[in-house]
Amino acid sequence: MKIIKEYKKPINIINDVNIFIKENYYTDSFGDQWNKFSKTQIDNKINSHSYERFFNETGLGKKDFSNKNILEIGSGAGRFTNIMLDHTEGNIYSVDSSNSVFANYKNNKKHINERLYLYKASIYDLPFEKSQFDIVICFGVLQHTPDIKKSIKCLCEQVKKNGLLIIDFYPYNGFWTLINAKYILRPLTKKMSVKSLEKFFKNKINILIKIYFFLEKLKLGFLNRFLPIPDIKKTIPINVGQKLLREMVLLDTIDMFSPKFDKPQKIKKIKNLIFDHNFSIIFAGKIKYNSFISTVIRGKKN
Ligand SMILES: C[S@@+](CC[C@H](N)C(=O)[O-])C[C@H]1O[C@@H](n2cnc3c(N)ncnc32)[C@H](O)[C@@H]1O
Repeated sequence: MKIIKEYKKPINIINDVNIFIKENYYTDSFGDQWNKFSKTQIDNKINSHSYERFFNETGLGKKDFSNKNILEIGSGAGRFTNIMLDHTEGNIYSVDSSNSVFANYKNNKKHINERLYLYKASIYDLPFEKSQFDIVICFGVLQHTPDIKKSIKCLCEQVKKNGLLIIDFYPYNGFWTLINAKYILRPLTKKMSVKSLEKFFKNKINILIKIYFFLEKLKLGFLNRFLPIPDIKKTIPINVGQKLLREMVLLDTIDMFSPKFDKPQKIKKIKNLIFDHNFSIIFAGKIKYNSFISTVIRGKKN
């Protein structure tokens, strides 16, 4: 049962998704991306990457979610929504400003309006009254928002006293971070549609993956930053079979090039912004699990 109070009504309800935002938002490309690749990152029998990432980043156990109200901002196709629904007993309020909410609906509809409530809304204009959530989660979103300071403020406002805010984001590790095919090509590619990017990369992905592993083998992996694909070993579970690996690389390539905003952030800056909203910082830094590294901040509201 929904117990979180909302202060405004949706402009529409489609597929049980509460709609608070119209088309033509800066995140529209994400809607196309996550509906095209709606299942690609959802865990399955051979791939538990989202599960590993979720529990390593939150640092919480399954029982910590029992009877808690959790707000997820920027859910994409709902891979973490799926983990929370399958492995915890929390009530999940999941928000995204793009049509990816419909991919989330497709992936998680068996829990809709029982333990899952879906919203198409922006972090900047959430329909909830403030300070209600036990846990607010925001993974892979911050760098894609236009006003980082305001995004942090909006997240912090949703957390109740003694509640947790847990975020991850792309870190800025010095000027070297931006010397990368992604940031060199983005001024051009962010104007392209998901469809055009997919068409352009689809038949080049296999060869790009081969070059990537060839350079790794030659111990020249540092050159891979100039390939227009993600750093596969650090971001993608490679033991998922050829077909899924190829699909994951294509998805992450589009995810690199299509968003309107992509600004890696300094840990210290984000930590201070959260601290300024009356939070104690429980953890701020890098978390290593398997071959992956995530940049995570966990704060508790005083
Ligand atoms: C890279 S995806 C991450 C999706 C998911 N959290 C994951 O890690 O798989 C970023 C998501 O944040 C959403 N997003 C970006 N800006 C937003 C905003 N202002 N309000 C709500 N969602 C936003 C996008 O629509 C997109 O689905």
